[in-house]
Order: sequence, then structure tokens, then C-alpha cells
Amino acid sequence: MYFKQITVEGMGCLSYIIGCPGAKVACVVDPKRDVQDYIDLARKNGMEITHIFETHIHADHVSGNQELKSRNGAKIYYMEGSPVTFPHEEVTEGQTMEFGYTRLQFIKTPGHTPHAMSILVTDTARSQDPWMVLTGDCMFVGDIGRPDLAGDELIEEQTLNLYNSLYSRLGTMPDNLEVFPAHGEGSLCGRGMSAKSSSTIGFEKKSNDLLKLSKDAFKQEMMQTFPSRPKSFSHIIHTNTHGVPLLDRCPIVRDLSPAQVKAQIEKGATVLEISCGRFLQKSSSRRSARESMQCCMMSEPRRNMKTAILNRPDRCR
Ligand SMILES: [Fe+2]
Repeated sequence: MYFKQITVEGMGCLSYIIGCPGAKVACVVDPKRDVQDYIDLARKNGMEITHIFETHIHADHVSGNQELKSRNGAKIYYMEGSPVTFPHEEVTEGQTMEFGYTRLQFIKTPGHTPHAMSILVTDTARSQDPWMVLTGDCMFVGDIGRPDLAGDELIEEQTLNLYNSLYSRLGTMPDNLEVFPAHGEGSLCGRGMSAKSSSTIGFEKKSNDLLKLSKDAFKQEMMQTFPSRPKSFSHIIHTNTHGVPLLDRCPIVRDLSPAQVKAQIEKGATVLEISCGRFLQKSSSRRSARESMQCCMMSEPRRNMKTAILNRPDRCR
């Protein structure tokens, strides 16, 4: 089995590439938007990424699921009932999937979001017992997911869901099961995560006070103040629910050759040269002095100039 945790420093986002080099297949769980790491790792280990799993609709970062799908055709999976509106597949409670010697099993663990899931990971070459559980934003290392992000009107239901997920689902799993969450220190999806990025069910039950409470005490605890919900979260949830635009539809910085810059401008793109802030664009037949100057500047774009394509007529929506 191949298993690797990928970290986005500063944001506390943790994602995973899991697969079987023998069977040449892999999947990615909770991909970050820059997907090159997954593609490089898969290629290096002779695997093809065929599946993308999201443990829940993220509020704090834009998913890389569309980007990864566009690069290799992998299908995107959510737990059944998730309100995403773009083409995707659903997994059901208890369903298993095999990737060579790697077996995944999907478990409903709502509470942070209403349709969140955890994923049990088994290396069947070593044992038929699960080795790890990817807990999404339900159980963190030293913390638990916050139940308030789905909206104030759902907080009571989500608190109860979170309690059941933590105490009746994850909490009844074997102590030696390793815990790999979707977030670590720095994330606002919890209140105080550890800097360590993995743990075990047994260690968390023993050392996390939030996993030692009665249901009433847990409810009381969840009524305490959470870190303020950043304004960007609503926009990010909306984006992740309806499908993230591909990066080549966005004005991003690219290293373009002079020929590529000219070709883009000929198609009608406006190109911003980052180094000095000049706009390069196709001139009209009745040139103003400014347009003539731009035309002059575009006549010989410099090698390796830093550019941002502001609009690509062939790509922009
Ligand atoms: Fe989250």
C-alpha cells in the first residue's frame, strides 16, 4: 500500500494520496487546489489517480477536485446526500472499494457538516484489520471539528450528530487505529489542534478532554464561543458546492514564451506583465497613442517575462 499525507503549511490543510503501486492505481482524499504534488507522486510510483474522495464540503479552502479531475479524468466522490451540484458519484454508509492491496471503507460521521464521512484504510497485504482512519473534520489531533459552520439553525442537530460520530462511531473503533485528520494546527475548523498531524483512537480518547464528556456536558461545551467564522467561509462553501473553476480560467501567473504571449494577445487576451504592471493587448485599427504604445511593447515580448493572462476568450466563462 502507498500512503502519503500532504500538508499545506500555514493553512493546516492535510490531504492524502493512497494507492497500490502493484495495481498501478491511486486515489486522493480532500485534494488541495494545487494538484501537482499528487500527479508527481502518482507518476513517480507508477500509479494512475482514478478516484477523488471528499470527506465533506470544505469551508476553509477551495478544493482541487475539479482541477485533478481535469488533469486525469478521475471521478469525484462524496457521501450520499451531499448537496454538491456538479457531476459526482456517491458512496454509501459501509461501502468498500479496493485499490489493489488497499481497501477503503466509508463511514458516515456527520457533525462538522451534515454529510461528512470518515474513511477506514486497510492494507490487505498486511492484515484484514483497518490500519488507519481518515477522520476528515470530525476528530482532529487534540481537538474535534466545530459544529457551527453549517449554520446557526442546524447547530443543535449538528452538535448531537458530532457527539454520536465521536463517541459511538469513531470512539468505539480499536485503540490502535491511527487517526489522520483533514486539518492540523492553523485551521479554523476547530479550536486548538495539535501541531502533530496524526494520532491514534486510543491516545485521543485518553488525552482529549472533549472525548470524555457526558452528552449534556458535550452540548454545553459546544455552546461555548468558537473562533469567529471568517467572511470568506460562505464564499468558499458556495464555490466548493457548485464546482471550483479550473485554474486556467483564472488570471494566474505563468511563465510564457514570447511566442505564447503573442499568440494569446492575437486571440484577444489582455496580458499583464507582472514585473512592471504593463497591459499588453491587441491594438484596434484606430489606435490611440496608448494603444500604439501597447502594440509597440507587445511586438517584442521579453523571454521569460512574468505574465498574468487577465482574460482568455477561448477559456473564460
Ligand atoms: Fe471543514
